[in-house]
Amino acid sequence: MSSQARILRCLLLLLPFYPFLCSVEARADYHLNNVLSIIEELEGHDPGLTILNVTPALGGLRTSDQDYHHLLLGETTEPLASLQLLSEDQRSFITSVMNHDVDASAERGVVLTPDGTTIAVGHLIAGIEAGLKRVVDLRRPDVVGDLPAPVDNLYALTLAKDIGLAIVAYHLNKSQVLLGPDGCWDNVTSPQVFTALGPWSPITNAVVNGGMDGLILGNLLTELQAPLPKLSALLRDYYGEGQGWMGLKANRRRKNFEAIVDLGVLTSQVISAVYLYNHTGNNAILQNLNHNILRNISQQGVKQFHQSYIVCPAIIPRCMWVAKPYKGVPVNLTLPLRFVYIHHTHEPSQPCTTFYQCAADMRSMQRFHQEDRKWDDIGYSFVAGSDGYIYEGRGWLWQGAHTKGQNSKGYGVSFIGDYTSELPDQAVMKLVKESFLRCAVIGKRIIGDYVIQGHRQYRPTTCPGERLFNEIKTWAAFKEVELSNGTTAGL
Ligand SMILES: *[C@@H]1O[C@H](CO)[C@@H](O)[C@H](O)[C@H]1NC(C)=O
Ligand SMILES: *[C@@H]1O[C@H](CO)[C@@H](O)[C@H](O)[C@H]1NC(C)=O
Ligand SMILES: *[C@@H]1O[C@H](CO)[C@@H](O)[C@H](O)[C@H]1NC(C)=O
Ligand SMILES: *[C@@H]1O[C@H](CO)[C@@H](O)[C@H](O)[C@H]1NC(C)=O
Ligand SMILES: *[C@@H]1O[C@H](CO)[C@@H](O)[C@H](O)[C@H]1NC(C)=O
Repeated sequence: MSSQARILRCLLLLLPFYPFLCSVEARADYHLNNVLSIIEELEGHDPGLTILNVTPALGGLRTSDQDYHHLLLGETTEPLASLQLLSEDQRSFITSVMNHDVDASAERGVVLTPDGTTIAVGHLIAGIEAGLKRVVDLRRPDVVGDLPAPVDNLYALTLAKDIGLAIVAYHLNKSQVLLGPDGCWDNVTSPQVFTALGPWSPITNAVVNGGMDGLILGNLLTELQAPLPKLSALLRDYYGEGQGWMGLKANRRRKNFEAIVDLGVLTSQVISAVYLYNHTGNNAILQNLNHNILRNISQQGVKQFHQSYIVCPAIIPRCMWVAKPYKGVPVNLTLPLRFVYIHHTHEPSQPCTTFYQCAADMRSMQRFHQEDRKWDDIGYSFVAGSDGYIYEGRGWLWQGAHTKGQNSKGYGVSFIGDYTSELPDQAVMKLVKESFLRCAVIGKRIIGDYVIQGHRQYRPTTCPGERLFNEIKTWAAFKEVELSNGTTAGL
């Protein structure tokens, strides 16, 4: 149906009954806000509907792995009658976002959140369900005999099974990818279709994001005393631009996940979840896999997961800030590099604190570099926003245009803002100084004894700003420029 026809049908059929439905009816964008509007509407039908019954009602819309979920959560009650109060379009929209799957044409069951990241909604909701009904010592000898570790349903429902399935699939066929990838929306303003950026594993970035969020929120709900929040309010706070829910915000998910999850626990939960999954009618997965091999590959896989999603910062890909294509043919870097050159953008002079602002800043810098400077692309390799994310400029593989004469030797990393007299936020600085640099070393993009320098050490400029330059001089990897006669040049 065309969108005009939808609007018309909405006006004619629904307006008299559900006037508030029409905006959702007309534009079923896969944006979290649309999911939240529908949840709010459900909650509005009856003040008796709390997070304790709305969450399992949504969970009841899952169509795959029902036995596995029943085993972990007990028999789910029938989807609430209140779901029947939603329009058919709304129910089918919510059902589609609750059910994850991915193939070459699209990744489904995911939505764009206000912070610019994409989450698998089913994994998020499953974590909240588990948090509200947490069983940390689930022994089911009747079903599975002796598990290596008692199952914690919060892990089993959010990430453990999917990490396990990804690890097993990779073990059986090493030409598959183990983790990821991220993806791109067809339209960031009006997201309809999300497509993986390359070959995919069962645990895409959207699954990791939704699973981490589910685990973080479920963990806190486990311990929370009444009164419990409304589901919509919790999610609005967590994904919104304010202070977060109980201080937790989506843009800090990797750090918050790291703070509550021990790698040894994650590994044993992955193994137990695979056993449990095998016993709920999916017994092909453990064929030809003995326990020692499963333990070994799980340790290796979880280590890789840790590097990709906990050590490394989330990097917003070019498609998400709607980058223009590179002009011409990019020059490949020869990795690993030795240098990282620090910049500030100067213009824009204000730090950006939301995804939409940071993305607009990226576009304006790219426009300036391509159109006014006549460069091929935005000059920087990476750019640090103050919204909790690093933005991909030319990225890991392409040579940038940031530090004249040095571009083939190092990455150019810029902080959005003017840091002449102030420093970037501590959290932003840590993102670069700790996460980004460690990630680059582990990924063999830069050498272990890499060197940090400021733009001004090579060019007559104040960049990266007096205050920020004084700061990076205190970083362990900072070095003065070595001249060929063995002395150093201070600036
Ligand atoms: C292994 O995975 C690759 C990439 O997905 C695929 O092309 C190939 O057919 C798979 N091999 C087998 C034996 O399944
Ligand atoms: C994205 O969607 C918006 C709203 O429907 C529309 O105005 C805009 O033209 C679209 N952008 C592209 C690139 O298609
Ligand atoms: C997997 O499940 C099948 C069927 O329940 C069972 O026979 C088999 O022993 C299980 N595998 C392992 C390793 O537990
Ligand atoms: C564990 O796996 C690694 C890599 O696949 C392999 O090199 C090692 O020999 C294995 N160790 C055991 C005890 O199976
Ligand atoms: C640059 O790298 C890409 C893949 O990473 C490769 O396809 C391309 O051929 C390389 N270009 C040159 C000039 O080496």
